[in-house]
Amino acid sequence: MLRYRSGLIDKVNPVLRNYKFTRSLSSVPNFTPAGKLKAVQLNKHALNAKYAVRGSIPTKAEELRAKLKSPAGKELPFKQIINANIGNPQQLDQKPLTFYRQVLSILQYPELIEKKELGKLFPKDVVERAKILVENTGSVGAYSHSQGVPYIRKSIAEFISKRDGYKAHADDIFLTTGASTAVSYLLSLLSNGKSTGFMIPIPQYPLYTATLAIQNAPVIPYYLNEQENWSVNPKELGKLCKENEKAGIDIRALVVITPGNPTGSVLKQEVIEEILEVAAEYGLVVIADEVYQENIFKGEFVSFKKTLRSLQERFPGKFDNVQLASLHSTSKGVSGECGQRGGYMEIIGFEEEVRQQILKLASISLCPVVTGQALVQLMVNPPQPGSESYELDQKERSAIHNSLKDKATELYKAFNEMEGVECQLPEGSMYCFPKISIPQKAIKIAQELGIEADEFYCHELLMSTGICAVPGSGFGQVPGTYHVRTTFLAPGNQWIYDWQKFHNKFMEKYRE
Ligand SMILES: Cc1ncc(COP(=O)(O)O)c(C=O)c1O
Repeated sequence: MLRYRSGLIDKVNPVLRNYKFTRSLSSVPNFTPAGKLKAVQLNKHALNAKYAVRGSIPTKAEELRAKLKSPAGKELPFKQIINANIGNPQQLDQKPLTFYRQVLSILQYPELIEKKELGKLFPKDVVERAKILVENTGSVGAYSHSQGVPYIRKSIAEFISKRDGYKAHADDIFLTTGASTAVSYLLSLLSNGKSTGFMIPIPQYPLYTATLAIQNAPVIPYYLNEQENWSVNPKELGKLCKENEKAGIDIRALVVITPGNPTGSVLKQEVIEEILEVAAEYGLVVIADEVYQENIFKGEFVSFKKTLRSLQERFPGKFDNVQLASLHSTSKGVSGECGQRGGYMEIIGFEEEVRQQILKLASISLCPVVTGQALVQLMVNPPQPGSESYELDQKERSAIHNSLKDKATELYKAFNEMEGVECQLPEGSMYCFPKISIPQKAIKIAQELGIEADEFYCHELLMSTGICAVPGSGFGQVPGTYHVRTTFLAPGNQWIYDWQKFHNKFMEKYRE
């Protein structure tokens, strides 16, 4: 029988008060407990999704990192794990831009604005910017408009108008929680069962195939041309559209990543124009993933939006049916603020009723992270010449950009010096995707182990050097070829020399 402290009994629900408690806690329940859920009972489409960037090799790397901290770590032939598997700059000691963090710190604690000492701590333009953001955004702890703070959308539209020389509109901008959310909204809305397909570049960033696997929507792969620095072959796109049309597949969208992940290639304007011609002919939505637009080391970034507007101007009426979603993020560029989850997409050419559905999806998630939205505002509107923060900001940006560029060149050279390795020049982004001629003997061992040969290579690389890279099979590649994707973010050069040494030994060991 339960006992109540005197007085408390009157506050208890009268139904409960009159209930006779016949079972004491120590009595044995007379049912057989049911089993727990097994993975096989889960959504099979989610089970089919694969994401190599955090797959088996990175998982092993985490185990080794933990081992390094224990006495058993002394047995390992390396002292640290080099995370070359993911474009996560601040995990690899890239410093955040001072201006961003100063403004954000005031947004987190706006009472600072009233403090006299603030003027000594932060430059004037930081305080001014924070004030404007607080005025327009309110508390970063409150939900914002589901499409994003109107003021920030306006800043983004101004940035795009300036970048492209064609007017952009705040109504076309959706702030998102990183670019990943934009991908998820678009793919889940556009896919409608097995008969709706999506053209995805191969190799690709596996967010796309993973999201489509969850949607159970067919992936129509198009292969990038490695010999032409991983460019797109628009003729192949047209051919695939025809073939799939005949097979009754309604191709809904074409995904293009420029600058490329994992390839590091930057698409030229002529190629973008031809891609848009295919989109216009077949009525495709183009998803232009342009999150690396600031990471350009050779040539220039040309946006899909600019190219589309230019085609629409030159050929009135011919490109009006093209629906374009272009994606950007604060995770990349020189910002590298992956953990803050800032991003946006600009959607143009969509029917209003489709736009409303995108807004509905955004509303279901309430709103994108508000500090992430503020970061987007800072990204698209950095300190201007003459402002107090300008000089330091420029210095920090150049240092990050130059370090990425130098590392890209260093890696490119190192790979091309290695036996049986061919690497295209990374023109942008944060990645190299060298092709590796893995000896037959190693391929055979991998087959016996039931893994891909490039996974075997990455496993051996990790176990010998602590370098964590991702097998090309996780991104897709021409069958029978093997690649490895590495970021060029890890500090120092020693790991590059270690990789070369490992490679020589690997080739020596498995040579016929
Ligand atoms: C090509 C590409 N698109 C989108 C993303 C997702 O970025 P986020 O969601 O952090 O903005 C990444 C992340 O690495 C990427 O490489």
